[in-house]
Amino acid sequence: MTAATRNFVAEPGGQVAGELRVPGDKSISHRAAMLGAIAEGATEIHGFLEGEDCAATLSALSALGVRHERPGPGRVVMHGVGPRGLTMPARPLDVGNSGTSMRLLTGILAGQEFESTLVGDESLMRRPMERVAEPLRRMGADVRTREGRPPVIVSGPRALVGCEHRLDLPSAQVKSALLLAGLFASGRTRVQEPARTRDHTERMLEAFGVPVEREAQAVAIQGPATLRATPVRIPGDFSSAAYFIAAGVIAGSGVLVIRDVGINPTRTALLEILRLMGADIRVHPAGEADPEPRADLEVRPGRLQGIEVPPALVPVAMDELPLLFALAALADGETVVTGAAELRVKESDRLAAMTAGLTTLGVAVESSRDGLRICGGRVKGGMVESQGDHRVAMAFAVLGARADSAVVIRRVQNVATSFPGFVEVARAAGLRLAAKT
Ligand code: S3P
Repeated sequence: MTAATRNFVAEPGGQVAGELRVPGDKSISHRAAMLGAIAEGATEIHGFLEGEDCAATLSALSALGVRHERPGPGRVVMHGVGPRGLTMPARPLDVGNSGTSMRLLTGILAGQEFESTLVGDESLMRRPMERVAEPLRRMGADVRTREGRPPVIVSGPRALVGCEHRLDLPSAQVKSALLLAGLFASGRTRVQEPARTRDHTERMLEAFGVPVEREAQAVAIQGPATLRATPVRIPGDFSSAAYFIAAGVIAGSGVLVIRDVGINPTRTALLEILRLMGADIRVHPAGEADPEPRADLEVRPGRLQGIEVPPALVPVAMDELPLLFALAALADGETVVTGAAELRVKESDRLAAMTAGLTTLGVAVESSRDGLRICGGRVKGGMVESQGDHRVAMAFAVLGARADSAVVIRRVQNVATSFPGFVEVARAAGLRLAAKT
């Protein structure tokens, strides 16, 4: 896949088996770069995701005066400037398609003495930002949005004060932004979540020497804090591995092994959902390290049974739901997902994008405000629109393996935000996928 790639063509009849690896975890890569930037000393990162979203974080950090080197593939050395070392950027920080960059950097910028502005691409400029701005204001920050959306303008100097936050929305990005601001605040910053979300920030803060108080659904730190540089080894991204877990189930011709995947329990709800649907997926842990657990995953082909997805699993499988909807189209019977309204404010309205695409492919789908009901059966070929959303594009690319004829997926350039080399990995695994300009 090159920068000129516009569409994918997914031909039916793949034979997926063998072994593969997926690129480094996106969420962890962002955090490693950001914490490395404000730590004291040099942070050596291995397995950094070479995707556009994490590149956006690196270039924003460069514009804030943090030097880094790229000594080899997946390797980044951040030369941390310490808690007071960031400098005022010369122009607005453009973080492209990356919501994680924008929301987490807002937390860091809230604690600085200078003014900065965050902007992004067309999709990001439509996404809600008050969810971070409002609680940051309660810590004393001056954060402005335009009718709740970017640009996000953060003004200093402000003395931040730690406070108690009770989130009404489960969001790791909001939790992380508040903890990052808490590093620059005086006193305790505590964040209580309505449901448990991914805990990469907490794990990484601990690795950088910041004491973190953890409860089942709450986390607290004491500010101001100083971070100590530490080497970080990032596992493969579970959310990227998910496409091949799915391919191994629906288009497998034998055993597929996906090596060195992050299996942080706050990320792997898709495994539980697929097992409830009848899939045979085995996890071979490969060590509790650096500071995230990792494993080799072993996937076998099989038939899936439609289910009502347990509500507790929905928020923690949010990024994998477009793929789950695609799989549900092939399952026996109905699959129902509710409690997924957040999908409407991701890189695209993912409920709308998946409903439109599946309907084009002849699948019976009913959408509601916060979910989908999908009746599994036959999937026709046809042309679907990814809405410029990487996860929608990859979900349809996998589904094409079991359609009656080719599935063309339009506007797939943003796959490079999270999964550079997706087509090459897919072809090597046995999918009949091509990128077209
Ligand atoms: C992420 C958190 C999730 C997830 C996103 C990455 C993170 O978003 O969907 O892809 O790295 O913290 P929310 O915080 O909006 O749930």
